[in-house]
Amino acid sequence: MRFEPASGLSGELRAPPDKSISHRAALLGAMASEPVRIERYLHAADTDSTLAAVRALGALVELRDQDTVVVRGTGLREAREPGATIDVGNAGTLLRLLPGWLAAQQGASFTLDGDDSIRRRPIDRIAEPLRLMGAELSARENRFAPLTVRGAHLRAISYELAVASAQVKSCVLLAGLAADGATTVGEPTRSRDHTERMLLSAGVAVHRNGRHVTVVNADELLLGGVRVPGDPSSAAFLVAAGVLVPGSRLLIGDVGVNWTRTGFLRIVRRMHGIVLGDLEEETGELSPDEPVSDLDVAHGVLEGTVVEADEVPLAIDELPLVALLGCFAEGETLVRGAHELRVKESDRIAGVVEGLRGLGAEIEGTSDGFAVRGTGGLRGGVIDAHGDHRMAMLGAVAGLASREGVEVRGIEAATVSYPGFVEDLAALCS
Ligand code: S3P
Repeated sequence: MRFEPASGLSGELRAPPDKSISHRAALLGAMASEPVRIERYLHAADTDSTLAAVRALGALVELRDQDTVVVRGTGLREAREPGATIDVGNAGTLLRLLPGWLAAQQGASFTLDGDDSIRRRPIDRIAEPLRLMGAELSARENRFAPLTVRGAHLRAISYELAVASAQVKSCVLLAGLAADGATTVGEPTRSRDHTERMLLSAGVAVHRNGRHVTVVNADELLLGGVRVPGDPSSAAFLVAAGVLVPGSRLLIGDVGVNWTRTGFLRIVRRMHGIVLGDLEEETGELSPDEPVSDLDVAHGVLEGTVVEADEVPLAIDELPLVALLGCFAEGETLVRGAHELRVKESDRIAGVVEGLRGLGAEIEGTSDGFAVRGTGGLRGGVIDAHGDHRMAMLGAVAGLASREGVEVRGIEAATVSYPGFVEDLAALCS
């Protein structure tokens, strides 16, 4: 599909519901003792996989209307052993979080598998802590799906993550709910904390102390209801388009502004892109709330910036967009300490460097990031999404900001997280 140069985006829309929070709401709903009503659940390929998985495990899922899902769970320790492999599709979050719950299903065995991309995503990072807790896990080459989890009586652990990862942290915390004692996870730098917030609102004793989170075992989860805010990672593509295309002015409504997710917006502001909104500040306190804000976005004359390791987890899924902004920013834009980008839905360092270079960017890859020299802008050309939703959307936004337009091969990958993406962009450009 081709994306032609735009002459200014304008209008108002709502960001699609948050993928991370939708996954967690469905999973915690399945683990809860009472029905959980989820408003604005994301209906996209990834989060549909989660609904199918929890159904296979014995939860009842009722689609009330376009936006509302009610999950009647099995309780913390009573997941049903399904007769078949659980298909996680393309969803890394499902692949890493679900085993935390399954590990506590004593005597039961579960196998998870997914698409080609999922089979390249490392899972030794969750296998190690779950084994320390007492579960049995086996995986292809000890690192990749298919993954089999045999549940056991779990013991609590204190575990330091080698790499900041909300998925691994969440997996250990979910296992900790059924373990004897208090489970603590430490992360080298802070990552998104939706699991902690949702557990707190489900009545679980969760405590944060700097980079450490502790969860005490629970008899049951009482979650009641969840309202899913708009996804800041999906909104980021619209923000980038608005900031890059001269003459743009857009209002994106109902965006989640939990501070562990707004790293990209802070980077954009530092680069002198215009994004007005009421972003959450870090307070050090753990609160169950997921704050939202409208974002008012306008074109800005950009300057290069440096993104270092401690900022990486707070903007992890948006770093390809930082490279794109860098093409249009005065001076150099550097991203360092982002080795994790190599093990996302695709190798996003290789994909960004090869993809943007093919459109005319001056960009070099490094082992853990990239360096971009702006502002030759982008000529245009062809970019391949390599089956990766965020790379597909990156190509589309690059097309709007380019001089000659961009053909994106594999734009349909966007449906993994943002099914209405092409239509939303078209509406803002008309
Ligand atoms: C996610 C955490 C991040 C992120 C992914 C969603 C989550 O992955 O890249 O898109 O919902 O917990 P890592 O935990 O691997 O950094």
